[in-house]
Amino acid sequence: MATSSLLLACLFFFSVILSHGVLQLEASHAVYANLQTLQKPTSPNQTYRTSYHFQPPKNWMNDPNGPMIYKGIYHLFYQYNPNGADWGSIVWAHSTSLDLVNWTPHPPAISPSQQAGDINGCWSGSATILPGDKPAMLYTGINPQSHQVQNLAVPKNLSDPFLIEWVKSPKNPLMAPTTSNKINSSSFRDPTTAWLGPDGTWRVIIGSKINRQGLAILYKSKDFVHWIQSQQPLHFADDTGMWECPDFFPISTNSQNALDTSMVGSGIKHVLKLSLDDTKHDYYTIGTYNLNKDIYIPDKGSVDGDSGLRYDYGKFYASKTFFDSVKQRRILWGWINESMPQPEYIKQGWSGVQAIPRNIWLDKSRKQLVQWPISAIETLRTNQVDLPSKLLKGRSMLEISSITAAQADVEISFSVLEIEKAEVMDPSWTNPQLLCSQKDASIKGGLGPFGLKVLASKDLKEHTSVFFRIFKAQNNKHVVLMCSDQSRSSLNQNTDKTTYGAFLEVDPIHEQLSLRSLIDQSIVESFGGEGKACITARVYPTLAIGGKAHLYAFNNGRGSVRISKLSAWSMKRAHIY
Ligand SMILES: *[C@@H]1O[C@H](CO)[C@@H](O)[C@H](O)[C@H]1NC(C)=O
Ligand SMILES: *[C@@H]1O[C@H](CO)[C@@H](O)[C@H](O)[C@H]1NC(C)=O
Ligand SMILES: *[C@@H]1O[C@H](CO)[C@@H](O)[C@H](O)[C@H]1NC(C)=O
Ligand SMILES: *[C@@H]1O[C@H](CO)[C@@H](O)[C@H](O)[C@H]1NC(C)=O
Repeated sequence: MATSSLLLACLFFFSVILSHGVLQLEASHAVYANLQTLQKPTSPNQTYRTSYHFQPPKNWMNDPNGPMIYKGIYHLFYQYNPNGADWGSIVWAHSTSLDLVNWTPHPPAISPSQQAGDINGCWSGSATILPGDKPAMLYTGINPQSHQVQNLAVPKNLSDPFLIEWVKSPKNPLMAPTTSNKINSSSFRDPTTAWLGPDGTWRVIIGSKINRQGLAILYKSKDFVHWIQSQQPLHFADDTGMWECPDFFPISTNSQNALDTSMVGSGIKHVLKLSLDDTKHDYYTIGTYNLNKDIYIPDKGSVDGDSGLRYDYGKFYASKTFFDSVKQRRILWGWINESMPQPEYIKQGWSGVQAIPRNIWLDKSRKQLVQWPISAIETLRTNQVDLPSKLLKGRSMLEISSITAAQADVEISFSVLEIEKAEVMDPSWTNPQLLCSQKDASIKGGLGPFGLKVLASKDLKEHTSVFFRIFKAQNNKHVVLMCSDQSRSSLNQNTDKTTYGAFLEVDPIHEQLSLRSLIDQSIVESFGGEGKACITARVYPTLAIGGKAHLYAFNNGRGSVRISKLSAWSMKRAHIY
C-alpha cells in the first residue's frame, strides 16, 4: 500500500511537470507515466502472435541482448518489462536453445539491484567470451541520477550450462560520464562485444552523440574491470544523431565462414553497424580497422547515416551479432516492433518479436553483406509444395495452395523474358522506399510489379505484396527495385501501413530474381536476391487470419516473367516458451 501510494504520488508529480504526461527519459524510450508498472498483466490476445518467431508469453520485449554460445548452448537475453506490454521496468530476460529455433525460458538474468550501477534500469549490452571460456556481460545501467553508466556481470556458476545466475561486479559502474570526460550522461549506452587487440588490451565501444554528431566512444582495459576512455572515438559521423546499439566485427573477404570478434589481419574487413535513434534504422558500413590509431574508416562509397546500407529496409532495430564458434558463423538478431498504436498493443497484452536469426557474410562484391535465415529454421518446414517452371503472363495471378498460408516459408525465383519492356529509370528516383510507395503493387508497370501476395483474404480486400520492378537505367544497365507494400494489409485503419523498399544489386538479364518470404501470422520477413536485400513488415489482417489466409504469385506488369522455381512449405510451431 505504502509503495503504491508513493508511486501514485510520483506519477502525479510527473503529470504536473509534463504537459503531455509523457516523460522523454531518453530519446528512444518514452515513459508513459500513467501506464508504467500500474498496468495489470492480462492474458495475451493470440490473434497476431507468431508461431516460430521468438517472443515471450506476454508483455513488452525490445532489444536482443548478449547473444552467445556457451558449452554448446545458445543464449538469448532481451530487454523485457515483467509488468506489462509497454516499455518500462526493464530487466534482462533470458532463454536458451540448442538450435536457435526452439527455446527454454529462464528467470530474468539481470535486474536492477546495485545502487551505484543500475538501480533505475538494466539496459542493453553484449557478451564477450573471456579467455578460459568465461562469458562476461557489459551492459548499460541507469544510476540514481538517471545517468547512463556501463556495468559488468558474470555467471555465478560456470558449471551450470544454462548460466541461470549472474553476479555484478562490485566495481560497477566501470565507465561513467564525468565532468572531465564531457560524455553526455543521457546519451551513453549499449556497449558492444569487446575485442582483444594483439597488444593484450581489451576494447569496447559505446554509442553516444555530441549535439547532432553520432559517435562510438572507445574504452580500453587490461583486466576487463578498469576501463580507460580513448583519446578519440573509434568512429563518428556528423548529423546522424544518437548512435544506439553499435556492433563492430571482422568479416572474411574470401570465405562465408565467420571470424571471432578479436580477429585482425589480412583477408579481413570490418563492419560497423549503428542503430539511428532519430530514424529507427540499423545501418552499417564496411571498412578498415586501423589498429595503430584505433580508428575505423569506412570504405569509399560506404556511407554513414540514414542513406547507408541497411540490414533490413523494413522493421528491424537495435540488432546485434555474435560469433558462433561451433558452426563458424556470425548470427544476427534484430527486434521487430509493433505497427499498431500503443493503446492497442497494451490491450493485446504483448509487444515485440525477434526476427529469425540470420547468418551473415560478405558479398562477393565486398560492398555489402548477405543475410540468410539460419538453416535450422528449415526443420520446421512441412507439407512441401513445388511448382514446375511456369509462365506468369502480365496481369495474372496464381494461387499457391495446400499449405498454411499464415505460417509458411516460400521460395520463388523469376526469370525475365522481355527485358525490353522495362520502364526507363528517372535519375531522380534515388529513394527506393519513396519509389515503392509511389509505384505500389496496384500500379501496372512495364516489367513488374511481380512477386508474392501474402496474408491475403480470398477477395484480396486484404493482402501484403512483396515484389520486384525492373527499370532501364541510363548506362544501359538495369535497376531492380524490391518492395514490401503494406498499404492494403489490413482493414484496421489504425495500423502503420508504411511501404518499404530497397534497390537490389542483381543483374536481371543474367541472374534469376529470387525472393524468400517467411510468413508468420503478423510478420512477413522477405529476402531478395538470395539475401542481398531484406525487408521485414508487421501486418494485422482482420480477414486473412489463420486458415482464412491465402498466398499468391502475381504479375501486374505488361511483360511476362517465368517462375523458374517455386517451393513453399507450411511451418510447424516452434517451442519458444
Ligand atoms: C483479439 O484481437 C483481435 C484483433 O484486434 C480482435 O478482433 C479480437 O476480438 C481480440 N480477442 C479478444 C478475446 O480480445
Ligand atoms: C553449479 O552448477 C552445477 C551444474 O548445474 C551444479 O551441479 C553445482 O551444484 C552448482 N554449484 C553451486 C555452487 O551452486
Ligand atoms: C545530451 O543528450 C540529451 C538526450 O538525447 C539531449 O537532449 C541533449 O541535447 C544532449 N546534449 C548534447 C550537448 O548533445
Ligand atoms: C515502432 O513502430 C512505430 C510504428 O510502426 C514506429 O513509428 C517506430 O519508430 C518504431 N520504433 C522502433 C524502435 O522501431
